[in-house]
Amino acid sequence: MAPRSLIVGNWKMNMNCLSSKALVVNITRNVRSIAIELAICPPFVYLLPVSLLLSSSKVVLGGQDCHNYKSGAHTGDIAPEMLVDLGCTYVILGHSERRTYHSENNAVIRSKAKAAIRAGLIPIICVGETEIERSAGKALEVVDNQIRGSLPEQINSNDVVIAYEPVWAIGTNCIPNIEYISTIHSHIRKILSDICCDAVNIRLLYGGSVKPDNAKKLMSAVNINGALVGSASLQAEDFLAIAKEMS
Ligand code: PGA
Repeated sequence: MAPRSLIVGNWKMNMNCLSSKALVVNITRNVRSIAIELAICPPFVYLLPVSLLLSSSKVVLGGQDCHNYKSGAHTGDIAPEMLVDLGCTYVILGHSERRTYHSENNAVIRSKAKAAIRAGLIPIICVGETEIERSAGKALEVVDNQIRGSLPEQINSNDVVIAYEPVWAIGTNCIPNIEYISTIHSHIRKILSDICCDAVNIRLLYGGSVKPDNAKKLMSAVNINGALVGSASLQAEDFLAIAKEMS
């Protein structure tokens, strides 16, 4: 049996306190009994109000990043244990925006992933090639290096979620064709089986311009267990429509 699908809303650096609360109320009021899991990842400063509103809901919470230490002199950083303290289940790690704008490399992401697992979080580890790498025919090689370099050496299938996000598809309204995603996902699954004995049960998400009108088609890719959604997660109707199409 395939693992339970997961749809994650990555709010990035959007919303304010009032609009965050309104969005969560709108999601929790309108979410029907769906077979898949829903998670939302607001900016750090809105985790607490969102967490309080989610306390009696099945929708779960995640952070957008974390540090690899439990505590200490790290101005501006957030420990994975702090995310757990606020009720988080997940943490997004290695998003391409962190790899690019914060120079996070595979080794940094791996140490954060280990710390997240140690704290009791499930890291959603992002991988994906840039447009230049895609045109050079290097997508499989790039994703291979990122998976082998950013995942902890030994994992169980419940420890992590992988999000394949081609960088050229993020925020562009342009998604790869299904065969392309299927090829990359099959390759990722093969690499995962080198480091995990029950790799078939690791959830593998697609991310990059997921919208209500392409969600159903995306689910026809092989080896897909849900989506990491950016801008479409900022509207309750769109986020829930994606969840419905992917259920
Ligand atoms: P997008 O973002 O859905 O707005 O393309 C996806 C992501 O960056 O996780």
